[in-house]
Amino acid sequence: MDSVFAYIDSDLKKVELQFKKDLESNVPLIRKVGEYVLASGGKRIRPALLLLATKLCDYHGERGIPIASVIEFIHTATLLHDDVVDSATIRRGIASANTLWGNEASVLIGDFLFSKSFSLMVADGDLNVLRVLSAATTRIAEGEVLQLLGTGDVEMTEERYIEVVICKTAVLLSAACQAGGIIGDATPEEEAALAAFGMDLGIAFQLMDDILDYTAKESEFGKSIGHDLEEGKVTLPLIVVLEKCSEKEREEIGKIIEKEELSDHDFSMVFELVQYYGGLDYTKKKAKEYIQSAKVHLEIFKESPALDSLYGIADYVVTRGK
Ligand code: IPE
Ligand code: IPE
Ligand code: MG
Ligand code: MG
Repeated sequence: MDSVFAYIDSDLKKVELQFKKDLESNVPLIRKVGEYVLASGGKRIRPALLLLATKLCDYHGERGIPIASVIEFIHTATLLHDDVVDSATIRRGIASANTLWGNEASVLIGDFLFSKSFSLMVADGDLNVLRVLSAATTRIAEGEVLQLLGTGDVEMTEERYIEVVICKTAVLLSAACQAGGIIGDATPEEEAALAAFGMDLGIAFQLMDDILDYTAKESEFGKSIGHDLEEGKVTLPLIVVLEKCSEKEREEIGKIIEKEELSDHDFSMVFELVQYYGGLDYTKKKAKEYIQSAKVHLEIFKESPALDSLYGIADYVVTRGK
């Protein structure tokens, strides 16, 4: 992964500067919260995908920088809102913005970032980029609402869950790749391949995130462990259990995910079931299949360092947290 980032290091540094500049506002709290979230890190996987997609299409100009900043703006806005919705207290290893400044500030500053993203895209002036990214933001909102509706639902199916994952996460990674293609003047076939790559990659990315919510160390994950369960989120590892377990176990799980607060015993019980019924292995297997499929989409491109880097990101997604 380090070599991937080394390859686009100077561009990513420019994206950081651009992001900081785009945060400018006469309202001091906006800068403060924006810079807090920006400085807390984040993997910058979406800007990296966009920049690499432009390079894959042999583009050498500078337009990738502002649009990569916009993608990270959109991502940051969704995180601010998502942490309110999910009552998250930790993000990127430190207190989440809603913990420090409250839900109201997080929602409003998320709104600022969203609307600023659109001004920045209009300033860039490419209607195709605007079309792809605005469609993505709409679908993210749909995904978050779909997830909300599915909270605590022991009838959740893999198919319905993947639809949530596509909307809330994969669509933005797909849009990052596709927008890079548009900037790089890709052929329609290349643009579609990039979009499809980002989509499969994004699904795998979220599935791995769901696994890590059960298995990671908080210090490495940067988010609370077991939080999905606590929030009643029925993710793929648990869906597998619900499909295979006994009626009695299902009832118990149903009660646990309805609870406001979980005891250590609740956690370990569900965790053991997830292990026992192979929920983690199955989810990992699925993530690997999506990564395999993601890579196949890029076979139409000729060998290049950008292609190697995109494959590198694909491999990283299914090995992160190891
Ligand atoms: C977090 O995304 C939200 C999910 C889609 C799981 P990232 O894991 O890319 O978050 P940062 O930007 O690196 O913190
Ligand atoms: C990921 O949501 C997608 C968005 C933020 C829109 P999650 O709720 O699954 O991700 P984390 O665990 O908070 O990063
Ligand atoms: Mg969340
Ligand atoms: Mg969420």
